[in-house]
This record gives sequence, C-alpha cells and structure tokens, in this order.
Amino acid sequence: MSGKVEQPLQLVPEIEPDHRAANGVNGHAESSTTTSRFDPHFTDAVINATGPKATPRMRKVIASLTRHLHDFLRENEIKIDEYMAAIDLMNWAGRMSDAKRNEGQLLSDILGIESLVDEITYKLADDAKDAPTATAILGPFWRQDAPKRKMGDTIVFGIDDGDNTLMHGKVLDYHTSKPIENAELDVWHTAPNGLYEQQDPNQVDMNLRGRFTTGADGTYSFYCLRPTSYPVPNDGPAGKLLELLDRHPMRPAHIHFIITAPGYKPLVTQIFDRRDKHISDDSVFAVKESLIVDFAPKEGDPQAQFDLQYDFKLASYEAAKKDGMNGATELAP
Ligand code: BEZ
Ligand code: FE
Repeated sequence: MSGKVEQPLQLVPEIEPDHRAANGVNGHAESSTTTSRFDPHFTDAVINATGPKATPRMRKVIASLTRHLHDFLRENEIKIDEYMAAIDLMNWAGRMSDAKRNEGQLLSDILGIESLVDEITYKLADDAKDAPTATAILGPFWRQDAPKRKMGDTIVFGIDDGDNTLMHGKVLDYHTSKPIENAELDVWHTAPNGLYEQQDPNQVDMNLRGRFTTGADGTYSFYCLRPTSYPVPNDGPAGKLLELLDRHPMRPAHIHFIITAPGYKPLVTQIFDRRDKHISDDSVFAVKESLIVDFAPKEGDPQAQFDLQYDFKLASYEAAKKDGMNGATELAP
C-alpha cells in the first residue's frame, strides 16, 4: 500500500496495557466518550458544528456516522500511519474509478456494505404475508441504455465456448399472481472469460446485455449463457484489501436483472447457479436462498443446451401502500 509514513507520528502518548483495559479501549465495543481517556467533549463538538440549514435526515445520519467513526478510532487506537494508509486507499480508489470502473462501490461490496443496505431496503419493504422476489445488489457493471431486443432474441454475440441457455418465465404481480404487461427486464452477465463487455476490448459493445418488454401474458424469454463464476476486479485497492484480509475475490455464477413496470416498485436482483462452487462464499455476500436456481439440460433446441425457468414477482405501489409497506414511494416510475 502506498503512502506509508516512515516514522508514525505519536500524537497520543502510549499507556500501560492495564490502563487500556480499564479504559475500555482495547478492542471492546464499550468504547465511548465516557470511558475513553481521550477528550470526552471532542465528538460532541464535531456533531454540534452542524448548522441550522442541514436537513433533519442529514443531521441525524451524519451525527450517527461521526459517533460510530470516532468510537472506532478510539477503540482501535488508530494512529496517523494507519489513517494515512486508509486515506491513500480511498484516493487510489478515486483515481481508478471512471465510467467503466467503480472502485468505491467495489470496496463497499467486499466489506458487505451494499449487500447489507440491500437487506435493509428489502426488509423494510417486506412486512406483507407473501414477498416479492428478493433483491440483490446492483454491483458496478450495469450500463444504462442496453439495447432493446425482441422476446426470444439472444444477448450472446461472438462467443463460441459458452453454455447456451434459454431463460424464460413470467413477470407477475406478487399479490394477485396476475401477469404484468409492459414489464421491462434489463439483463446482463459476464462472458465465459469472466469479463463484462466494458472490461473486455474483444467483446462487442453491449454484448450479453439486453432489455425485453413483456406482452399481456407477462411472459419473457431470451437466449443467454449459463454464467460462470468470476473474480471481482482485484488489481486495485479492493483487491489489495482482499489480499490483506486473506480473502478470495470470486463471485458465484449469476445473472443480473433490473425489472421495472408501470405502477410497480423496481426490482434489482441476481439469480445464482446452485451448482457453482462459490455459491456459499460470495466475495460480496449477495446470495439469497430464494435466488438460487437450477439449470436443466435442454433437448431439441439447436440454440441452447440448458433451460432456465424463473418467475419474477413485483410489488405494486398500490398493494405496498395497503400493506403499510415502508419505503413505498411514488418517486420511481
Ligand atoms: C457484479 O456482480 O457485477 C459485482 C458485484 C459487486 C462487486 C463487483 C461485481
Ligand atoms: Fe456480476
């Protein structure tokens, strides 16, 4: 990691180990301004600097973040060299990020942050008896404006070594089980080499991506590949962090979806291949049981060796309101 300070600055004098324990600063969560030997007023002073024009949400969230971060710093006795290494890591992530690479999101992913936010979002919307299809993280490789394709078309171009698959099913209202017309499925996955098209100069633009719109019967179908597991990009700070934590970068084979329909809450999700060897140790913690699927061998179709059937269930804004489901707003289309 770059930016190591040769002689770590000693801003805080060393104390005897038994004093550390007495002060609750030796790795225990009880650390707080009342038990710490550090300035007990400092955190409040930072929080109280917030001005009157800050929104209530901003005031609440940043005060909480500040408290947790300050407690973390005190509890772990973070000194200048470790602090600078973390700042360098974040700046490195910023320098590496552009329209095709989102290193900041990747860092949050390997720490489980996007998956936890996804779980919180889903749970808040999921107090009803039945549940819509489970959500999963968006990840950094979605692209806007994927080509619109006709139902039954393929999203695979210029790839000869993949397991061709016919994926099909219905988009349903989870409350009424009725088919949803005009639902758009935006789908994307990697090539057998483990790369999304924007990472791979040898793939055509928008390969393995497409948008499909359902008719009145709510059915969808398209040809894709049975996906393969792949490593998250590990040549940057997220990779460095994985290495320092002695962790692998692999994601189990999956296909991404964003499903939208007029009057329904958008669904961001992924489906996962049960047979993948990383199904139980996803490097970004996104797998949920209900999203694990089985690819069946397919006979008599020259375009596909595998068949995958999966129905998606969406929550309407109207039903969400009746159920008192939290987070159901009219902001989305
Ligand atoms: C993905 O599935 O595309 C992905 C998710 C999180 C981090 C990296 C990649
Ligand atoms: Fe992915």
